[in-house]
Amino acid sequence: MVGPVERMEEPERPQESARRDFVKKAGSIVISGLAGAIPTCAALTVFLDPLQRKGQRRDFVHVASLDSLPSDGTPRQFSVIADRTDAWNKSPRVPIGAVYLRKTEANQVIALNVVCPHAGCFVEYSSAQKAFSCPCHNSRFALDGTIADRKSPSPRALDALEVEIRNQSEIWVKFQNFIAGHAQKIPVS
Ligand code: FES
Repeated sequence: MVGPVERMEEPERPQESARRDFVKKAGSIVISGLAGAIPTCAALTVFLDPLQRKGQRRDFVHVASLDSLPSDGTPRQFSVIADRTDAWNKSPRVPIGAVYLRKTEANQVIALNVVCPHAGCFVEYSSAQKAFSCPCHNSRFALDGTIADRKSPSPRALDALEVEIRNQSEIWVKFQNFIAGHAQKIPVS
C-alpha cells in the first residue's frame, strides 16, 4: 500500500516576498505617524481650548449687599455672576463660581470660595455644627475656613478671597479659583 503523500510547501516567489515587505513597511510608517500625531493633537487641543488659556484673572465682582448677611455671623452662599470672555466668545453675566460670605463685624465680611481644596467638590455649611464639611471625602472646616479636623484630607484651608465694601453697602469680591490638591494657594491662570 502507498502511504499518505506529504505536501511540500512551495518556496515563496520573489514577487510575493517583495509585496509582503512593502505592506509591512507601509504599515509601520502609518503606525509611527499616528503615534507622533497623538501628542501633537493633545498639545493643539490644550493650546486652542479657551478654558486652558491664560487671561482668566478676574477683577472684583459685586456679589451681594451687606444687609443680605445675618448679623450673627452665619455664612450665606452666593453665586458669583460676571462676564466670561475666552478666545472665541464673550458671555455676559454668567455664573463663574460661588462663595460663602460671612459678616464678622458690622462693616466687615470674609469671603470663602465654596470649592474644597482637596479635589474640587463644593463644601456645605452645617448650622448645627457651625462648620463647613465636604461631602466627598469628609474634610471639615471651621467658620473662618481653617481646617477643623486633623483627619481632613484637604491640604489647606478653604480659599479666602479679597473683599471690598463699596458705597457703604456693596460687597465686592475678587473671585479666583485655586488649584486643588496643593498645600499652597496657586491661582488657576
Ligand atoms: S474633595 Fe473635599 S474632601 Fe475631597
